[in-house]
Amino acid sequence: MNEVNTNGKLEGDVYYPSQEVIEKSYTKDYDSMYKRSIEEPEKFWDEMAREYYWSKPWDKVLDDSNPPFFKWFVGGKTNIVSNAIDRHLTTYRKNKLALIWESEAGDEVRTFSYYALNREVTRFANILKGMGVKKGDIVTIYMPRIPELQFAMLACAKIGAAHSVVYGGFSVESLAERIEDARSKVLITADGGFMRGKIVNLKQIANEAIARQGTIEHVVVVKRTGHDVHMEQGRDYWYHDLLGMPIINQPCETEQMDAEDLLYVLYTSGTTGKPKGVIHTHGGYMVFISATYKYIFDINDEDRYWCAADPGWVTGHSYIVYGPLIQGATSFMYEGAPNFPYPNRWWKMIEKYGITVLYAAPTAIRGLMRFGDAWPNRHDLSSLRLLGSVGEPINPEAWKWYYEVIGRSKCPIVDTWWQTETGGIMISALPTTPLKPGSATRPFFGIQADVYDLDGKPTAPGEEGLLVVTKPWPGLMRGILHDPERYKQQYFGKFTTAYEAGDAARKDKDGYFWVIGRLDDVIKVSGYRLGTAEIESALVSHPAVSEAAAIGLPHDVKGHAIHVYVVLKEGFSETETLGEELKKHVDHEIGPIARPEKIEIMSSLPKTRSGKIMRRLLRARALGQPEGDKSTLEE
Ligand code: WT7
Repeated sequence: MNEVNTNGKLEGDVYYPSQEVIEKSYTKDYDSMYKRSIEEPEKFWDEMAREYYWSKPWDKVLDDSNPPFFKWFVGGKTNIVSNAIDRHLTTYRKNKLALIWESEAGDEVRTFSYYALNREVTRFANILKGMGVKKGDIVTIYMPRIPELQFAMLACAKIGAAHSVVYGGFSVESLAERIEDARSKVLITADGGFMRGKIVNLKQIANEAIARQGTIEHVVVVKRTGHDVHMEQGRDYWYHDLLGMPIINQPCETEQMDAEDLLYVLYTSGTTGKPKGVIHTHGGYMVFISATYKYIFDINDEDRYWCAADPGWVTGHSYIVYGPLIQGATSFMYEGAPNFPYPNRWWKMIEKYGITVLYAAPTAIRGLMRFGDAWPNRHDLSSLRLLGSVGEPINPEAWKWYYEVIGRSKCPIVDTWWQTETGGIMISALPTTPLKPGSATRPFFGIQADVYDLDGKPTAPGEEGLLVVTKPWPGLMRGILHDPERYKQQYFGKFTTAYEAGDAARKDKDGYFWVIGRLDDVIKVSGYRLGTAEIESALVSHPAVSEAAAIGLPHDVKGHAIHVYVVLKEGFSETETLGEELKKHVDHEIGPIARPEKIEIMSSLPKTRSGKIMRRLLRARALGQPEGDKSTLEE
């Protein structure tokens, strides 16, 4: 047992770090550093921020004069790209690998040093400038998991434009409403992407989405699959053609931005049908994600780091693209599905590239666990030193399998709790933290998390309540695009002085957090966040459907799966193919991630007297649980 991180004996099933892990860690003493960070948060963040390049230092670390609209590093100037790329070019890191990428078919490997990355990003930045993209514009990016996705994001940031990345698994309506809300004039996409050996027809989806809204003027199309696509004359340009223009290779200054200037918008699901455009900035976000990345993953130059998420989600923004690049790390990115063509695909690549840190979602771990130990056991996974988990609670069975079979009982698991809105990791073990399977353990430095009851009082140890954060931190979103009131209401409406995350949690006697899951109408399906309202509105856009209700029910691999109940319009009746047709319709509108597991046709939906669908009752019935209070049910 190590003496360093434990104050007394911890209760429950506890895994302690080895002496070797402790010796190599940046954090020898979490408790004292945490205490210091909480007692003087501004001093702490000031010190953290000094590790990065600023063309002008800040005048004030935190401006909290107008809560909950907090500002960080006020008066400071920088650009996240100055730190993610530029500053490495004058050091030994210039020729260090920034990115290693492998195609799904395994036939292509592309590598980029920091020097090469700068060249690619500069070219892309020059293309965007040539199209008239300016500081403050929002460019929508809809791409498969290929290096150009990262180049595009970094190119936007470099010239001071913001990006809005729409995950390549989303479909027509999701893409259209995000472009519309961001008022993007430029869209960056690809002809298609590969997934499980099949082509995902991104360009066709993009064409349909553009037709549903009216802001897009130019489209840059990266050729990935080479299949035939429709290119609209005067609107659509092949990326490889644009690269042939002489001006493309000119140098491009990295625009210096105010700390509070917009870096990106990322849409995420909430309780209404309309996704929220969460906003992050150049200054505070940069400091927060790079500090969390460094300390939580103990990153240094020897690492080969692999975050298996998609860059299109916040995990990818913070911990594939920006965090690793700011720390000068070498990242690996894989294009395709985890079990393609065989269930050893991930393990094979860990062996091949000597991956040292793997950061993945519980759903992927459970999915691979299903195939048994023989697949990972065929490979030498000894390069791994640390494992990470993100996106939903990790169940103890999956945790133990990950720990024993993948980590060979020598790699700590950092289970990281956070959200699109928090910018970066909030509650997580550090490599030296004693672990309890299923607990995200304790807050990161500078983060004051707690569990409140409905009256805003901290709950007793072990008692369930609402997960809150009681002090601002630099990575907190700066709001919701075009809707500051919704930001205030949604996250600070309940407790005014505390950020309410929308998750249920409890804290045990040792101060360890156990996150239980969403309290609102948000479903986590395979770690993806989906609103019941979005799924329902996709369903009612089908001619046969008059009303729909979606709920999440427990699922062995996905965590939760979507079950929907629909009421048909007059004149429509249930047919053998209707269920399949409705599933396809959801695929087409939102994307395959939202495809319902099960569709049930009902004659009516249970509603309250005020007309709200009682999803709670549908869930209880589906699970065969007591139906609870039905006093508000309309007869
Ligand atoms: C929701 C946020 C974190 C980036 C990717 C997801 C759930 C996330 C954990 C975890 C338990 C977790 C929460 C949260 N969640 N990580 N380690 N343990 N739950 O970001 O799509 O914004 O979703 O994911 O319910 O509220 P997101």
